[in-house]
Amino acid sequence: MSHAQGTLGPADHTLVIERVSKRFEGVAALADVSLQVGAGQIVGLIGPNGAGKTTLINLITGIHTVTSGRIRFNGRDVTHAPAHEVARAGLARTFQNIRLLAEATVIENIMIGFYRLETTPSLSSLLGLPAAHRETQRIRQRAMALLERFEMAHLAQAEAGSLAYGHQRRVEMMRAMASDPALVLFDEPVAGMNDVEAAAMGRIFDGLRREGRAVLLVEHNIRFVTQLCDQVYVLDSGRLIAAGSPREVVAHPDVITAYLGRPRAHKER
Ligand SMILES: Nc1ncnc2c1ncn2[C@@H]1O[C@H](COP(=O)(O)OP(=O)(O)OP(=O)(O)O)[C@@H](O)[C@H]1O
Ligand SMILES: [Mg+2]
Repeated sequence: MSHAQGTLGPADHTLVIERVSKRFEGVAALADVSLQVGAGQIVGLIGPNGAGKTTLINLITGIHTVTSGRIRFNGRDVTHAPAHEVARAGLARTFQNIRLLAEATVIENIMIGFYRLETTPSLSSLLGLPAAHRETQRIRQRAMALLERFEMAHLAQAEAGSLAYGHQRRVEMMRAMASDPALVLFDEPVAGMNDVEAAAMGRIFDGLRREGRAVLLVEHNIRFVTQLCDQVYVLDSGRLIAAGSPREVVAHPDVITAYLGRPRAHKER
């Protein structure tokens, strides 16, 4: 794959977050957060509600701007790059709340992902010129190839809003993958899924890793994260409280406290 970055040394990462802070009207949503994601790595980002996980994704994607710190992507400083520029540089995301055109078909929803990359204004498509028609056919074929890979080709013509929740999530993923991104950010991709659906999702993530993509995975499902991720970072109230292998992180006392609350003074045995 073109994004494999075979010439980079082991110290180089696709995504490098350096001491990033973000304040919203005086409230510190993130404080001094550093994190790296390498090509062919799935990095988990966990933490209780309001910890700052989605805020970090919004900063990386250029939806919000940092208060301080630096963000580098594929060796480029994108700290102040607008969202469309970061997307063009090879970054894609999904959202915490599903965002599909419910009344459009599955394949149309995925085709949108390809159209987003178009550089020329679509005057020719407005005028119905043959070149635009050929382009649409080409995009339809590529969307179909993605559907086959995600084992959803049989649902290509289904109305997106009529699909089961797990399938809607997959459509979102395919739309994100349309741009052939080097880095993908997923915000709670298996929330609300049963174990079977989550396992299917896990295999898809594993495939992305094998293709050499860098994946940042925000998830509340700890079991899913620890089974899948190479590295895990833990945020609590905007601060990183732990980072390391899944095994190290789940055994960390601060992580246990963040998830279970402070241990009671008088504990029953
Ligand atoms: N646009 C915004 N304006 C003001 N405050 C915000 C904004 N976005 C997030 N915040 C605040 O920043 C903090 C972190 O929120 P964030 O959504 O990043 O948490 P999260 O870790 O994604 O939580 P959850 O697990 O519930 O999705 C919260 O206190 C939130 O209220
Ligand atoms: Mg969130």
